[in-house]
Amino acid sequence: MRNLIDPLDFTLDETISILDLADRIASNEEAYSHVADGKKLATLFYEPSTRTRLSFESAMLSLGGKTLGFAGANQSSATKGETVADTARVVSCYADIIAMRHPKEGAPLRASMYSSIPVINAGDGGHNHPTQTLIDLMTIRHRKGRLDNLTVGFCGDLKFGRTVHSLVNSLVRFNDNKFYFISPEELKVPDYLIEDTLIPNKSVYKEVRSLEDTLPELDVLYMTRVQRERFFNEDDYIRLKDTYILNKEKLQLAPADMPVLHPLPRVDEISTDVDTDKRAAYFEQVQNGKYIRMALIMSLLELTDPLTGKKVL
Ligand code: CP
Repeated sequence: MRNLIDPLDFTLDETISILDLADRIASNEEAYSHVADGKKLATLFYEPSTRTRLSFESAMLSLGGKTLGFAGANQSSATKGETVADTARVVSCYADIIAMRHPKEGAPLRASMYSSIPVINAGDGGHNHPTQTLIDLMTIRHRKGRLDNLTVGFCGDLKFGRTVHSLVNSLVRFNDNKFYFISPEELKVPDYLIEDTLIPNKSVYKEVRSLEDTLPELDVLYMTRVQRERFFNEDDYIRLKDTYILNKEKLQLAPADMPVLHPLPRVDEISTDVDTDKRAAYFEQVQNGKYIRMALIMSLLELTDPLTGKKVL
């Protein structure tokens, strides 16, 4: 039985196979409408979500399956002190696969150790968000036609932004990708990402402060929200939240074919006047989220692709 807890749980070949399946689903969704008939997805969300939870549910319904779950720890027996381990054991009796979001780093991993059904990490604290990474890879591949030889700029809250950590971990596995980390000093990428990922992979990276100076160098820009919910001090959040605001005027400094990604939700870091620019790719990411999660559910449930007659993993 396979789980998806960390982006590196899939080999590079498996990652590409899932992206390819998501592309096939996107171009012929109807062909997949009964693939998961009779299967159930449990969404265990201990932390707020719009896209991830609803796209998981939409994905399972689009495959012919059903969904159950909760959208807040206060709707579950976690309020009575039930552990993640016990919850995972219990839900294994009711469903075929679990998608879990939790504010504590490592909670989905712990759930997977006690679950008898596959567990997907739908975001754990400031740690990882591997399903968002697959969405980001799918969107970059569509926009740039490749996943290697790219200069990628990450801008904003690189300390708490779990989507950044997961995407960097994945992009270093492709050839010749370079990184600009654009952040205030207080929101720099964590040391562990540099020491455990970038240095061992001999990745070329720069930590910089200016978005304007960096924009002309980039093939891809990945904007992020300053994560208010992970700050200990509201004053620090208020001081840092508007450090970077991408607007139409600043975007003129960027290459004409540089997609702007953002995992969303956004607050003020991308002005709405960017939305109509053809480089804005963030609502495309949202759409791709459903196809990626359909592909993931199929892969982890070992369902056969009706178009190829084969399983993915
Ligand atoms: N991108 C993302 O994880 O969005 P939600 O928090 O709305 O699920």
